[in-house]
Amino acid sequence: MTVRVPGKVNLALKVGAREPDGYHRLATVFQAVSIFDEVDVSPAEPGTCSVTVSGPQAHLVPTDDSNLAVKAARALAQAAGISDRAGVRIAIKKDIPVTGGMAGGSADCAGALLACAQLWDLDSSLEELQEIGRTLGSDVPFAFIGGTALGTGRGDRVTPVLSRGKFHWVLAFSDGELSTPVVFRTFDRLSRSSDVPVVPPGLFRALAAGDTAALGAELINDLEPAALALRPQLRDVLAAGIDLGAIGAVVSGSGPTCAFLAANELDATSIAVGMSSMGLCRGVRRVCGGSVPGAQILRRRD
Ligand code: C5P
Repeated sequence: MTVRVPGKVNLALKVGAREPDGYHRLATVFQAVSIFDEVDVSPAEPGTCSVTVSGPQAHLVPTDDSNLAVKAARALAQAAGISDRAGVRIAIKKDIPVTGGMAGGSADCAGALLACAQLWDLDSSLEELQEIGRTLGSDVPFAFIGGTALGTGRGDRVTPVLSRGKFHWVLAFSDGELSTPVVFRTFDRLSRSSDVPVVPPGLFRALAAGDTAALGAELINDLEPAALALRPQLRDVLAAGIDLGAIGAVVSGSGPTCAFLAANELDATSIAVGMSSMGLCRGVRRVCGGSVPGAQILRRRD
């Protein structure tokens, strides 16, 4: 059983007050983009759960019990009351950057939940899988639905948002990771959060109209100053994207991946080529957003 799950960029990320549980209240708009992890599961000795990871950054992903896909499989088996009978071998093919602000860990978590539910013949609903997933990562519920969605609460309460057309993005990957908790702590030090975070209404209008130019002007990320304080060289990356013709530039989530919105496919190619040649980042990728689905079953082995 193989499940494919997309990464995301945040078109808006407005951060509100820090709650007593340590999490910040968010209002965010996620967009799934065409970069995917694949999570493959196969039966194993009852009561066992193991994971292997492949891909260019595989060495950065833990393969012990702290792996989010392992936690997901165990949590699902427990919720279904089959922990002693269920066994699984998980293989993750990783393409979404690790700790890159694109919800790669949450993608693997959602992928493992969907794949294991199928493998074990559970008739879990989407809501039940999302409920287990949100305890493991705030972005997991979105990874199930994909497309474009508003996230509230911790970012884990998701509602699809009307979005027309296809958006062309260029992603610039950075060397090294940025820890999400550290970025949020830096945000607390640097910024005054608004009590009730609100996504600018113009962003919804731009999405509904499929107006790329208007969307470019509305991109906003309250965590960006914190990410830039921790990684000042990202300023040069963002500026370079704009110089190369991007109509919007934003740090994705807690970073360090930077996302550039291009007016069309041709512009995306020239931004990607220009960015690659500048040597400011580890890698560059052209992706699309707008109608990229969430976790999907790719292959079923009989
Ligand atoms: O839920 P997730 O594992 O993605 O969160 C990682 C960390 O990011 C949390 O432990 C917390 O420090 C921070 N966070 C936050 N407010 C949110 C989401 C995440 O402070 N809404």
